[in-house]
Amino acid sequence: MESQILINPSILNANFDDLENEIAKVALTSDSLHLDVMDNIFVPNFTFDLNRAFEIINFSKLPVDAHLMIENPDEISPLYAENGCTSVTFHFEAANDVSKTIRDIRSNGAKVGLAIKPATKFADVQKWIEDIDMLLIMTVEPGFGGQSFMHDQMPKVTQARTFIETLLKQKPTLQIDGGVSLETIGEAAKAGANCFVAGSAVYKSDKPAEMVSSLREMAQKNYPF
Ligand code: DX5
Ligand code: ZN
Repeated sequence: MESQILINPSILNANFDDLENEIAKVALTSDSLHLDVMDNIFVPNFTFDLNRAFEIINFSKLPVDAHLMIENPDEISPLYAENGCTSVTFHFEAANDVSKTIRDIRSNGAKVGLAIKPATKFADVQKWIEDIDMLLIMTVEPGFGGQSFMHDQMPKVTQARTFIETLLKQKPTLQIDGGVSLETIGEAAKAGANCFVAGSAVYKSDKPAEMVSSLREMAQKNYPF
């Protein structure tokens, strides 16, 4: 099977006043733009309201992978699908009806991602694995960019990868998010992640586009599947 590595920069630590340009900087070397939406309820931080998020989706030169860190995502997630996101990821811990939210995102035209926080077990979401396109295992506590990578999440990544590899049909993407850098991406790829969100590693670099390519190379080198 072809192993595809995906690198999705997060603009959380980019210049919010010049996002169109910030996205353009990485457009040629990245797979998708990771859009972190925070409501100051599910996480203690706020990023964009619906209108601003839709503006960004509109001018983004990259497909948008929305990561909704919002309480009660059931009603709002499908709106992101309807407004042009390629994939919409919501948190298991925040949803009232996971199955329905999965269906509603898909029927509005986007791929479906399900995210879990560091304290949540893979077993809690295993029953939905065949219904989703991506599992996001957080490698920091969601809320802020620039935090340290949680190495203790790697057994969970391996557990998820092992399960995914037993699936005969569509295998969902396994994404990690938080603290991804040239120092940590190899370890996560080795554990079985194949999609990597990187915020500060990309936007604090002098050459963001080249950093994306270096991250991809390092992941590819270490990904055994
Ligand atoms: C954290 C966000 C991440 C964040 C990653 O809650 O979901 O996407 O932007 O930033 P870094 O790569 O700096 O940890
Ligand atoms: Zn994120």
